[in-house]
Amino acid sequence: MHVPTFIEQKRDGHALSADDIGEFVRGYASGEIPDYQAAAWAMAVFFRGMNPVEISALTRAMMHSGRVLAHPPGSPPKVDKHSTGGIGDKVSLILAPLLACDGLWVPMISGRGLGITGGTLDKLESIPGFRVGLSEAESAAQLAKLGVVMIGQTADLCPADKKLYALRDVTATVPSIPLIVASIMSKKLAETLDRLVLDVKFGSGAFMQTRAEAEALAAALTAVGNEMCVQTSHLLTPMDEPLGCTVGNALEVAESVATLQGRGPADLVALTLDLAERVANSSRAALARWLEDGTAWKKFVAMVEAQDGDATTLERMLDVHPSPIVRDLPAPNAGRIAKLDAGAIGRASVLLGGGRAKASDAVDYAVGFSAIRKVGDAVAMGEPLMRIHARNDATLAAALAQLEGALVVS
Ligand code: URA
Repeated sequence: MHVPTFIEQKRDGHALSADDIGEFVRGYASGEIPDYQAAAWAMAVFFRGMNPVEISALTRAMMHSGRVLAHPPGSPPKVDKHSTGGIGDKVSLILAPLLACDGLWVPMISGRGLGITGGTLDKLESIPGFRVGLSEAESAAQLAKLGVVMIGQTADLCPADKKLYALRDVTATVPSIPLIVASIMSKKLAETLDRLVLDVKFGSGAFMQTRAEAEALAAALTAVGNEMCVQTSHLLTPMDEPLGCTVGNALEVAESVATLQGRGPADLVALTLDLAERVANSSRAALARWLEDGTAWKKFVAMVEAQDGDATTLERMLDVHPSPIVRDLPAPNAGRIAKLDAGAIGRASVLLGGGRAKASDAVDYAVGFSAIRKVGDAVAMGEPLMRIHARNDATLAAALAQLEGALVVS
């Protein structure tokens, strides 16, 4: 393939053939095609877009750039969920074991937090000993035994996406729907699923700021999944205030434990059930019952133990990860909470050390926010709106400055 012609075609707004897309992805993954040509091509896609046939071809090529999970013939339906990311979004930790209680297999491959949104892997790794880097054989054995495994992307899963995503990150080509769709769906489809539910978020704490943008992304993601014979559905969910009452790695594990023990906040429980029922065999009532009667909690404990995590720490995550500074943030006046800006809370969480500004940053498991109230709640003057967990005075001050104007009681 003559790469400059391939780039030129997209630059001039023409559709690319599936064969050429496949060859380009193979060439880029192998190192034959250099970064500068891939960057020029990504920018051409950013401006010109791709039609559904091109998006499918790109997704397929990226998915087949590495290994694809193989499940034994006759095994239960394989299901998963993907969220485009939000503040306090710990749904995966609850939903994966819950769906395994339904006799389904959940081979969940998750990512780390980057920017304001947290990552499932970081949350899981706040559990002492928990291993997200299982071998393919270990994952397969655990799936057969428990019906659930939660792991990270391995080097041989969608390597083309890994390379292209890193390039997009430094060439201002991340926010392109075709490139986002191929990136997300290649990884999910490499799990070899029967059903997938997508949680596409919109609002101040989401990748997509408006509902219209989220709708366009959801439609494109869903179309590719269904086209590739995975029963794919989606929900569009608002992300203007944090989900649940905590933001931060260990704090979110603690809240997930409470939810798995039937004591979860209403919004988190509702969203988990909304998503789970899209891919479950059983009814919503059965799923809700498994959250309340200890069934899902036992499955989570079994999964943590199987992945070498110390399950005895699960009910004392705040003792395992204590924050030197814990401070309540009081309501400035009496009234109803009008705003708890998720984007600002996410940025404040990064400033506390709970998230990553760049991929190589370490995260502090202890810090974040707890006891976050909900928009619409009535509060008295001085009543805490949330509790801040900080490592030191400097990060506390930076987080407080970030929250200026973000919490409104009117
Ligand atoms: N998440 C991904 O995995 N890829 C993207 O392109 C954007 C978000």
